[in-house]
Amino acid sequence: MNIDAGTEAIALCASADLQEGALAVSFDVVYDGQSCRAFAIRFEGRVHAYLNRCTHIAMEMDYRPNHFFDDTGRWLLCATHGAVYAPDTGQGIGGPCRGPLEKIKVTESDGRVYWHPSALCKPVAFLF
Ligand code: FES
Repeated sequence: MNIDAGTEAIALCASADLQEGALAVSFDVVYDGQSCRAFAIRFEGRVHAYLNRCTHIAMEMDYRPNHFFDDTGRWLLCATHGAVYAPDTGQGIGGPCRGPLEKIKVTESDGRVYWHPSALCKPVAFLF
């Protein structure tokens, strides 16, 4: 994991790793002091990232790793009870969701995707 201290951007993956409406790229974060998974997807050309935590019950949403899109590539689904989220905003739009997914800031430049820590969402610290 490369950290660019100047912009507080953490390299996540190559742009080509995220295809429209296809598999996500997952990554680890510490959210509000807890180790969590997060994921990035591409939708309508733009990259978006969210905490991998359903708002119905706080559990990971992908039954098959990195599969978040429905068959149409239009919606994000929780595999457990079928909550439906908008890929570009994380808003819950169907099923038992109770609000939006927690969005994580991402940027894309020079063929790379980066995520940006926040006060609540930080990179995993490795202790040696
Ligand atoms: S845990 Fe996601 S819909 Fe129930």
